[in-house]
Amino acid sequence: MVGLRIGTLLESESAQPADLIAKRLNRHTFWCGQSGSGKTYALGVLLEQVLLRTRLPLVILDPNSDFVGLGDVRDGAPPASADALAERDIRVLRPHGERPLQVRMLDMPVRSQASIIDLDPVRDAEEYNEMLSLASEFPLIDDRHLVPHLRASDSTVRHRLALRLENLGVAEWRLWAWGGRSVTDDIDDQPDATVVDLGGFATPAESRAAALAVLDHLWARREDRIGRLIVIDEAHNLCSPDPQSAVERMLTDRIVQIAAEGRKYGLWLLLSTQRPSKVHPNALSQCDNLALMRMSSPRDLAELGDIFGYAPSALLDRSPTFAQGQALFAGGFIDAAALVQMGERLTHEGGIDVPVLMR
Ligand SMILES: Nc1ncnc2c1ncn2[C@@H]1O[C@H](COP(=O)(O)OP(=O)(O)OP(=O)(O)O)[C@@H](O)[C@H]1O
Ligand SMILES: [Mg+2]
Repeated sequence: MVGLRIGTLLESESAQPADLIAKRLNRHTFWCGQSGSGKTYALGVLLEQVLLRTRLPLVILDPNSDFVGLGDVRDGAPPASADALAERDIRVLRPHGERPLQVRMLDMPVRSQASIIDLDPVRDAEEYNEMLSLASEFPLIDDRHLVPHLRASDSTVRHRLALRLENLGVAEWRLWAWGGRSVTDDIDDQPDATVVDLGGFATPAESRAAALAVLDHLWARREDRIGRLIVIDEAHNLCSPDPQSAVERMLTDRIVQIAAEGRKYGLWLLLSTQRPSKVHPNALSQCDNLALMRMSSPRDLAELGDIFGYAPSALLDRSPTFAQGQALFAGGFIDAAALVQMGERLTHEGGIDVPVLMR
């Protein structure tokens, strides 16, 4: 069975290696720990192993640009691993990057488009309905000319849609591919990893729309049944238990749907966040794998104990004493629940902590 070597077992004699079971990434995984506990670093260790040992394509939603160096091997990495990683097809799409992170607006489901301009099907019944009828014209519209197209019509409802697009600044977003290449084209090529750098957009709204476009696409293509690991770091940004805006609701609904129904289609989530209560409970309850790093809040630990009954409470209780880079792994992806000292990264981290400067 292919093992993913992520570090060494804590308290083992002569630093016994710790392996995760690669095949069991065909479930959802929850990765949790307080800020600075080393989640992002440790997650990188696992993703490097996935790249080295499996053909499982990764789609990484990366809100803080932490994984943009995933293809960039560190000096001193073992040559065999460095060579193997260098051969992998790792595509980093960034708002201002060489490969721009862009999306074709008119490819998105109408409900998602409507949420981006904050249209509610009941409250804004007329505009919403016009969006539905507009959808049949999408193949005929050059999306760059969407606003002029709306204005050219005699319909005042269409004029109001144009106003919304302009007033919210949506028509000006860097995110739109305007007929060009979309991140979904890259995902469909099935590279070994697609890093979707959600940091660096001018507004959080743009970043959320990018994430929604990716998740909508993966869901729409679920019948392809291509096993994929969909990594969402800082998952509370996209899967809040209490979404506020229309787009946030769409995102939470989509992720909860993938958590509930995606497994059999090969849509496997890995959700990482600081506290269990920050992610929607219906997504959490579907996670069969748990990685827990340092967590000192008793309330959060009690909640984890309730949700993840398979994690032994004696080990959960150790979490407040974990040093950076130590973690509890439990669930299907490890033979028996164990405490692990994470190994070293082979590739560069995007956003390492800012140091205190000394005199
Ligand atoms: N095992 C490790 N070895 C060396 N450095 C580490 C290790 N784990 C974490 N670090 C460093 O500690 C800092 C914080 O780690 P990291 O960003 O992974 O924390 P985090 O849990 O993701 O925090 P946040 O929730 O704020 O995103 C980073 O600068 C990282 O480089
Ligand atoms: Mg982090």
